Amino acid sequence: MDRRALLSVTAATMGLAALDCIAPMRLRADSPRTLKSLAAACGIKTGVACSKTSLEQSPAAFVDFVTGNFTLLTPEGELKWSALRPTQHEYDFAKSDWLLDFTSQHGMALRGHNLCWNTGNPPWLEAVLTQSNAEKILTDHIATVTGRYAGKLDSWDVVNEPIAIWFNKPGGYYDGPWLRTLGPEYIDIAFHAAAAADPHCLRVINVHHVEQGRDAETRNACLKMLESLLKRNVPVQALGIESHLDCDLTIDQGELDKFIASVQKMGLQILITELDINDSKVNGSDQHRDQVVADYYRRYLDVVLPVANIDRLIFWAPMDRSWMDYMCNAPRWQRSDGKCNHRPGLIDSSLQIKQSYQAVAAAIEQHGRHRLQA
Ligand code: XIL
Repeated sequence: MDRRALLSVTAATMGLAALDCIAPMRLRADSPRTLKSLAAACGIKTGVACSKTSLEQSPAAFVDFVTGNFTLLTPEGELKWSALRPTQHEYDFAKSDWLLDFTSQHGMALRGHNLCWNTGNPPWLEAVLTQSNAEKILTDHIATVTGRYAGKLDSWDVVNEPIAIWFNKPGGYYDGPWLRTLGPEYIDIAFHAAAAADPHCLRVINVHHVEQGRDAETRNACLKMLESLLKRNVPVQALGIESHLDCDLTIDQGELDKFIASVQKMGLQILITELDINDSKVNGSDQHRDQVVADYYRRYLDVVLPVANIDRLIFWAPMDRSWMDYMCNAPRWQRSDGKCNHRPGLIDSSLQIKQSYQAVAAAIEQHGRHRLQA
C-alpha cells in the first residue's frame, strides 16, 4: 500500500463506528460446520483481522461469527506503532490488552501485527529518527512490546512488507524511515530484538504482492532477501503471504507453487496472513460479484491449501464493509461505477453468510480430507 493511500485509510477506519447499524444474523457459533471446526479437523487454524471497535460496536452476532469460525485474531491496527506510540516516550496498551483479554475469554489466540513497518507509523517517528538513534528506538520498542506479551501470542509479524519493488530501491526494498536510516539491516535488528524478548513466539516476515501473475519480480526479490537473511543467521522462522488479491488479475499457480517450494526448501514455515479479495474491477449485480469473489477464494485456496506446512489461514476482511471501502481514491480500489462498496466479505454487511463463506468451507473440507490421507 502506498503511504498516501494508507494515511487516508488509517484516518477513515479509526472512525469505523458505522458498524453499529448492522442487523442481527442467525448464525450459530456452535454450528457443526464452522470454518474453525472444518479446519481443526485437518490441523489448520483459521484466523481473522478485527479491530477493537468492530468487536465492541457490532451486534453480538458479529462477535459470534468471529468466535465461532476463527481461532486466531489479528488486531487490525492496535499493535501498530501508530496505535501504541502516541508520543516518543509513551506506550498505550489499552486497546491491545483489551484484544488479548477478548481472545483469552473466547479460547482464541492473538497474533502480533506488527513490530516494524516502513509505513503506518506515528508522525513523530519520522521527525525524530536519525541514523544514530534509529537502532535504539527500534530495539527499545520491540523489547517493550514483545516483552509485555511474551509467551502470550500465537506469532509476531516482526517485519511487515519489507519488499515493494515500485520504490526502485536496490534489492526491491520498501522505502521508508527504517530503510532510510538503517538500510536493509533494519530487518536483522528487528528479528534479533524480537527473538531476545520472546524466544518462543513464531517470528514471521510478512510479505505482499507475491501471489499473482504480475508479481514475478517481487517473488524474486523476496527469495533473495530470505536467502541472505538466513545466510546471516537472522532468526526468521516463517514467511507470511498476505494474500490481498485482486480478482481482475490471474493467479499463476505454477509460479506460486515454485515460490512456495523455494521458501519451504529454506526451512521456513508459511502462513496465509491477510487473505481478502478486491472486486473493484467487477461490474454487475451483487449476486454476480459475490459469485466471482467466491470462485476466486476457491481458486486461491485450491493452490495454497494442499501445501502441507501452511497451517494458519487468516482472513483480513470478514465482512463486506471493510478497509477497502476507504481506499476508493487509490486506483487499485477505484470502481468504474464510482461506488465504494467492495464485497470481499465472508458475510455481508447485514451479517448474512455469503457464497464466499461456502466456497472457503468447501475448500477447507476438500483439501483437509487430502491432507489427512497424505
Ligand atoms: C490496514 C488496515 O486494514 C486499515 O484499517 C489501516 O488503517 C491500514 O492498514 N497490509 C497490512 C495491514 O499488513 O496492516 C493493512 O491493514 C492492510 C495491508
